[in-house]
Amino acid sequence: MTPRRGFKRRTVLKLGGIAAGATAIAGCSAVIPEAAGRELTSDLPLPERFVVPLPIPPVATPNEAGRYMLTQRESDVEILPGTRTRVWGYDGVFPGPTFDVRRGEPIIVDVRNELPAPTSTHLHGGVNPSDSDGYPTDVIVADGHDFDPGAGSHMATDADQWRLHRGGREYEYPVEQPAAMLWYHDHRMDFTAPQVWRGLCGMFIVRDDDEDRLELPSGDHELPLLLCDRAFNADGSFKYPSVDDSLLAEPGVTGDYHQGVEGDVLLVNGAPWPTTSVDNGSYRLRLLNASNARRFELALDDGGRFTQIGSDQGLLAAPQVLETITIAPGERFDVIVDFSGHDVGDRVVLRNLLGTGAAAEVMRFSVDRAKGTRYRVPKRLSEPPAIAVEDSVGDRKFAFALTNHEHGQMWTINGKPFDPADSLATVKIDTVERWMFSSDFHHPVHVHLGHFQVLNRNGKPPAPEDAGWKDTVDLRPYEFVEVAVRFSGHRGRYMMHCHNLEHEDMAMMANFDVV
Ligand code: C2O
Ligand code: CU
Repeated sequence: MTPRRGFKRRTVLKLGGIAAGATAIAGCSAVIPEAAGRELTSDLPLPERFVVPLPIPPVATPNEAGRYMLTQRESDVEILPGTRTRVWGYDGVFPGPTFDVRRGEPIIVDVRNELPAPTSTHLHGGVNPSDSDGYPTDVIVADGHDFDPGAGSHMATDADQWRLHRGGREYEYPVEQPAAMLWYHDHRMDFTAPQVWRGLCGMFIVRDDDEDRLELPSGDHELPLLLCDRAFNADGSFKYPSVDDSLLAEPGVTGDYHQGVEGDVLLVNGAPWPTTSVDNGSYRLRLLNASNARRFELALDDGGRFTQIGSDQGLLAAPQVLETITIAPGERFDVIVDFSGHDVGDRVVLRNLLGTGAAAEVMRFSVDRAKGTRYRVPKRLSEPPAIAVEDSVGDRKFAFALTNHEHGQMWTINGKPFDPADSLATVKIDTVERWMFSSDFHHPVHVHLGHFQVLNRNGKPPAPEDAGWKDTVDLRPYEFVEVAVRFSGHRGRYMMHCHNLEHEDMAMMANFDVV
């Protein structure tokens, strides 16, 4: 296979916007841009904040045969009060149903696609067989729809790099991993960003005995919170700068949006700036940043702290108290917040210190009931497996950067635009390696299958947000982050990529093989 062949029509990427942006960054390296993307402005008045009640997505339930059925389809839903928005949703809802499963109980998810474009479903943070990992060219094409990978300017135009499933397929999830909140989302080659923007994402909770032992706040005191941003057209539809709205031929975004697309409406579980009624007790918030590009720095406006109990991949060994939480796309934080200092009638706003205007606020908690139960966070939470850095069998470097190519600039890893036929690393199963990631912009780096611990940031100790076992790490402009990554569970082809979904779609992905 000739790796370059797949790029023949990729030349049409119009990356002028990035070139200008990157030059500006390089020209004033003292000023690190906080914005990880470019904000789209909605064409209708923004809704009033803290009016819409916080929705909790439905919980996925298996059928009589013990299988989970998930159908990707279009539906019209009310996101902004009084308007209808067409979403692409798992079971037609956005966010999709939340999976709530137990370690040691494998599941099969039968995903059907009834959308006009191909899809691939990835369980982010899952330790799953390569075949069920939601590879970008391993797609489902709906009955009655055609898909010709060679017809557009796709990253992979060679038919032999694709696997097409007609109508639907099964994904097998062994669920042999510690309790954690994972999430699932679309991962289709070249079009992940617009397809997730249209609604293809949902939460996936794994529980286990280790966590049960802690008797954490549960039931309506455990709130899964999927944060993201969107913009809207005047008619209420999602606004997104696709080159080709059919999502069938020409990938990419227009104008300056190659940096990443941000919306001016912040959604929690699909609702704009929602409000939720709480008592004056403790709550477990399971935070996920499912935005395409936006980073948040979360803070409570009553000066309350977050007690972090878990990271991307589950419980920390010991809790840590954080005043603010910076969360990049793909990352999760499991925290306890406590409203016990409040009287009934108090309001607490979850703020976003990286946002301006309406984007500086996320949601509101309305303390409506007294006699809440205060949760005392134990000093020891769990004993997550230690990573034996000294046993590292390899050192590798991965540079996430905008690089020049014969036909223009692309977001790349080690100078290479993604090529399904190529692999940047071969690693041995059940080994640990030291990987050094570097960046020229905001790049939240995500590794499939392998979980890691951050060893250092620019040679200094990791940030508080780097604690615990991670699968995604927030790289800011001109940073070097070294991680110890462990590969276990399955052999096969996996990938790493930038979780800024516009960067991902514009080639910032790479394969690695676990042997
Ligand atoms: Cu959240 Cu490869 O993805
Ligand atoms: Cu990136």
